[in-house]
Amino acid sequence: MEKINVLIDEEKLNKRIKEIAEQISNEYKDEEIVLVCILKGAVYFTIELSKNIKNDSIILDFMKVSSYGNNTETTGKVELKIDLSTNIENKNVIIVEDILDTGYTLNYLYDYLKSKNPKTLKICVLLDKKDRRKKSIDVDYTGFEIENKFVVGYGLDYEEKLRNLPYVGYIEE
Ligand code: IMP
Ligand code: MG
Repeated sequence: MEKINVLIDEEKLNKRIKEIAEQISNEYKDEEIVLVCILKGAVYFTIELSKNIKNDSIILDFMKVSSYGNNTETTGKVELKIDLSTNIENKNVIIVEDILDTGYTLNYLYDYLKSKNPKTLKICVLLDKKDRRKKSIDVDYTGFEIENKFVVGYGLDYEEKLRNLPYVGYIEE
């Protein structure tokens, strides 16, 4: 197997996630929040984030989308695989995603969720590969900006594997 190098270790991840959670706690106070975790990649991030937000009215929901293409390239076409199970009309919604790359996935999700008339709609991503953007998108909370490398771990996969690494790493070429 190829060597995996650590890009962001567990300690750094946890520290930054706590900071974002604190920011969200302060901004929403006791207002209800629906966290929409985008499967499968955002699972680890969403769990850690939600545990650190001080708010007794958090609702977790899940969506799954897939973008066409091979493992490292997307074509821009996004398909809904699993829909929400919560009615988000007039609710505060935060989309929680693992990584923002070309922007196609989050553009699709934002427009889709906006059409359900939430009270507020924000976007929270753990990683942002700015250089790769094809569709512009405004993100409200970003964990880390990273360079253009294919990353794995902490939810991110390579051919469905390596999601369970406790850190974000990259495969040495
Ligand atoms: P976008 O639509 O190009 O912004 O792609 C976002 C999706 O592509 C993410 O939800 C990931 O599933 C996947 N992705 C993009 N970059 C990486 C990466 O470096 N490692 C693993 N998955 C990635
Ligand atoms: Mg994904």
